[in-house]
Amino acid sequence: MTVLVPTMGALHKGHQALIKRARTLSKEVVVSIFVNPLQFENKDDFEKYPRSPERDIQLATLAGATEVWMPDYDEVYPGDITKLSAGPLGKLFEGASRPEHFDGVVTVVNRLFEIVKPTAAVFGEKDFQQLAIIKAMKSKVEIIGVPTVREFDGLALSSRNIRLTEAGRVSANVIHRALAAAHLAPSVAIAQEIIDSTLATEPAFTCDYSAIIDEATFELATDSTRNKRAIIAGWIDGVRLLDNMQMGERR
Ligand code: PAF
Repeated sequence: MTVLVPTMGALHKGHQALIKRARTLSKEVVVSIFVNPLQFENKDDFEKYPRSPERDIQLATLAGATEVWMPDYDEVYPGDITKLSAGPLGKLFEGASRPEHFDGVVTVVNRLFEIVKPTAAVFGEKDFQQLAIIKAMKSKVEIIGVPTVREFDGLALSSRNIRLTEAGRVSANVIHRALAAAHLAPSVAIAQEIIDSTLATEPAFTCDYSAIIDEATFELATDSTRNKRAIIAGWIDGVRLLDNMQMGERR
């Protein structure tokens, strides 16, 4: 049985956690590294996406990958591309800010599955909406989510973090501060208020969205915090950051 860990490279401990989880499932773990142009609505973001292939091979191998696969564009997309649709969920939140982003994600994930033919694939919960959309693809591949790995101050690990300035890096923990302050709130309304007031304390952070949603439908939550998740996205130093936390989860 082959387990696939799809990545766009610039690996860090969060990716290593995915690879380690994959190794608990199988002795055959393929890590793919492909910066997928189809999921970038902004050419500049695609070009600036960090790339560190040599280091990636080391980190993936150390974490237990048995194959690091770095396909080129033509291998993933030979000939004309048939872009798949991520459906209505692909238009909400992250999808509203990044039109066609999730269509690009499901298109590449589908291609990676077609080529590697894994039994299972592992993705991070940090991209919670992405994980939900990939699960909704209803492919034969079992989809496994792995909890977010965080820095000492709670900042979710992300390949984009290295583009933050020193000051921006300090400010960036406001997202986790907001989630951690709100996750045990007695109601959705109070949790939302805590999140928004915490985010407002950090002038370097430009909020794109902050919401508390039903984990299954992504509809805005109203009363009970049961099975709800807080999601936040925004920018610091022009770097897009996102994070989420299950309500009621002890962190
Ligand atoms: O999460 C990512 O790194 C990417 O969106 C993925 C799933 C590898 C598809 O390109």
